[in-house]
Amino acid sequence: MTHGARPLVAGNWKMNGLRESLTEAAAICEAVAAGGAGKAEIVVCPPATMLMATARICEGTKVGLGGQDCHAEASGAFTGDISAEMLKDAGATYVILGHSERRAGHHETDKIVRAKATAAMRAGLAAIICVGETRAARDAGDALSIVGVQLAGSIPEISPPGRIVVAYEPVWAIGTGLTPTRQDIAEMHGFIRDRVNQHLPGQGASMRILYGGSVRPANAAELLWIDDVDGALVGGASLSSAEFMAIAGIYTKSRKD
Ligand code: 13P
Repeated sequence: MTHGARPLVAGNWKMNGLRESLTEAAAICEAVAAGGAGKAEIVVCPPATMLMATARICEGTKVGLGGQDCHAEASGAFTGDISAEMLKDAGATYVILGHSERRAGHHETDKIVRAKATAAMRAGLAAIICVGETRAARDAGDALSIVGVQLAGSIPEISPPGRIVVAYEPVWAIGTGLTPTRQDIAEMHGFIRDRVNQHLPGQGASMRILYGGSVRPANAAELLWIDDVDGALVGGASLSSAEFMAIAGIYTKSRKD
């Protein structure tokens, strides 16, 4: 943690969750109300089908809500898509954009991610823009340059301060139990902050840069107390309120190096 930014722990449920999972959302709200996340901001990103029901559960609590993707247009003939305005209308204040699963599975380019992020700004949402290299790119020594290109292409030109969050999610660390070294994470997060400052002058210092990829209760403190890591984007472990809150719970303690 650095820069006095309020840490953010966001749970990306991906394509998981039926109505019965609302009990997990309710348990997260209870745990946060009881101080279980310390100073951290907590956001749950369920599938779109559960947004409104989850919004009802989170209403009046300190737990925020996010979507997992949005279309660049506000409305229109785009069967199956959901706009940023619709997410906002459903109760979301955040949207995850450019996740590697969408970049790979839905051919989302940096240009598309930027258009979606611009839509999120238009709708008044905060965007969690995901970047990260493949294993081959890291092994080839190209991790920083790949992420630099993703940032340059994905961040909208005009973003009100505080409305962009970057999540560094190495593709090879997602769902694998593998994580980069602390040194590699520190180097990448410092690099991201510098680059953001180039694109959005003055915003780099206060921008929250999350780490994502196999964050678990057992490694949360080790990963999240690294310099320039301002929180986590959690996948698998966010499906269990107990695991998710065990991760967020590191922010109830003070930093130990
Ligand atoms: P895991 O935490 O399951 O590795 O997923 C990370 C992720 O993709 C969050 O967006």
